[in-house]
Amino acid sequence: MSARTRPSQIAPLPRPHGPGGLRPRPMQRTDLPQVAAIEAQIYPFPWSIGNFDDSLTAGYDCWVFENDDGDLAAYAIVMWIPDEVHLLNLSVPARLQGRGIGRTVLEWLCGNAVARGARGMLLEVRPSNLPALHLYESSGFARIGVRRRYYPAAEGSREDAWVLFRTFGGSDPERDDE
Ligand SMILES: CC(C)(COP(=O)(O)OP(=O)(O)OC[C@H]1O[C@@H](n2cnc3c(N)ncnc32)[C@H](O)[C@@H]1OP(=O)(O)O)[C@@H](O)C(=O)NCCC(=O)NCCS
Repeated sequence: MSARTRPSQIAPLPRPHGPGGLRPRPMQRTDLPQVAAIEAQIYPFPWSIGNFDDSLTAGYDCWVFENDDGDLAAYAIVMWIPDEVHLLNLSVPARLQGRGIGRTVLEWLCGNAVARGARGMLLEVRPSNLPALHLYESSGFARIGVRRRYYPAAEGSREDAWVLFRTFGGSDPERDDE
């Protein structure tokens, strides 16, 4: 995470609509084998453990979220650029998906970014990733551009990325990512 505001005490999140609360904490290098194992299970083209290690080295906000059972229930990587945040990774283990964890974590990340002065959040998503698209569009993100052939896809092909932005506080984003 960036050094600008690391709270010494991180409050638990409100309970998602399944059982159990969620507690955010900065990701540690000791988390990386578990994070990379989850990543490999839920993405066809996962980040490597080296990608997560690089994110820690770069000083990105790297969060893990634990539930009441002490399980790793979500993780997220956020980059500051510099008055916006770029959500690079938001993931929930397969067995815990569809219980409100992703939405709860996304709202917490947005609240954290607002509290630290961000004017909005940017992210890329595969148009084929309907669960993620539904989450983002129902959480106030709007499509502002397309990055052509951005992601690797099946059989050596490429898939576009849709660029989504959520404005914090009302002003319209002025960007051209086409
Ligand atoms: C996308 C992801 C983070 C969502 O987290 P989650 O905990 O499963 O999602 P939630 O239970 O909070 O649901 C939030 C919204 O997502 C959508 N959603 C979740 N699962 C869905 C599914 N199987 N099909 C369609 N929409 C779905 C719904 O709109 C839901 O809203 P609702 O609560 O009004 O129904 C999670 O599914 C995940 O990690 N997927 C694999 C990795 C990934 O694709 N990450 C995003 C990369 S951009």
